[in-house]
Amino acid sequence: MKTKIIALSALAALVAGCATTPSDEEIAARSLAVMKAGFKERGQAKLDRLDQDNLQRTCSIYSGGNEMPKEVAARIEKEQLASIRYPADGKLLGDWKAGEKIAQSGRGGQYNDNPKAPSGANCYACHQLTKQEVSYGTIGPSLFNFAKVRGFGPDVQKYAWNKVFNSHAYAACSSMPRFGHRGILTEQQIKDVVALLMDPNSPVNK
Ligand code: HEC
Repeated sequence: MKTKIIALSALAALVAGCATTPSDEEIAARSLAVMKAGFKERGQAKLDRLDQDNLQRTCSIYSGGNEMPKEVAARIEKEQLASIRYPADGKLLGDWKAGEKIAQSGRGGQYNDNPKAPSGANCYACHQLTKQEVSYGTIGPSLFNFAKVRGFGPDVQKYAWNKVFNSHAYAACSSMPRFGHRGILTEQQIKDVVALLMDPNSPVNK
């Protein structure tokens, strides 16, 4: 009789164990542990890059067919817009020639890149920028003639600055990187890239 009870309670424990579905947090923590086990730190490429911030966590919840409610998207865009910083001198435009080099470079952040060298922005990997480009990606819309079409005024300059600094300010969970976030690009580099989009003499607007 005693053995029977023990056997039954063991069975009950087993069934209960199977029936408990892990919470979303547990699944996320386990997945992160599996991912971290699959990567090795090398140079400046540290494993903390796998840790999501609040924005990324929210975007992950609403991926894979789980549609994001409008009010969540609106909240994200408001928060991200509020996180944008502006240059102390108030000037949003730098040197478009320097900006073009930054936009056409995909270097930076990898274990074999010099951590002290400035990063590229890789804009060309997702956008067309000029007529002269031999190849470019099409994940993002073409930016050729960006200011010529939108206008060269201060509102469009500010929009271009904001978009490069934090793309989620206008498109929650955008696939465009947040270049002002964690200093991927320096303030001067963002000015130069914004000049590439906005300067009437830039090949973008020719
Ligand atoms: C990984 C791909 C990717 C990279 C790299 C990228 N973008 Fe984007 N970008 C996008 C996507 C996708 C959109 C459209 C969705 C959105 O607005 O977020 C976009 C939108 C934009 C817009 C808004 C266009 C409009 O018509 O309003 C601007 C401006 C822009 N990107 C500039 C840049 C610049 C400048 C760089 C480099 C500093 C860059 N992007 C790098 C993917 C990218």
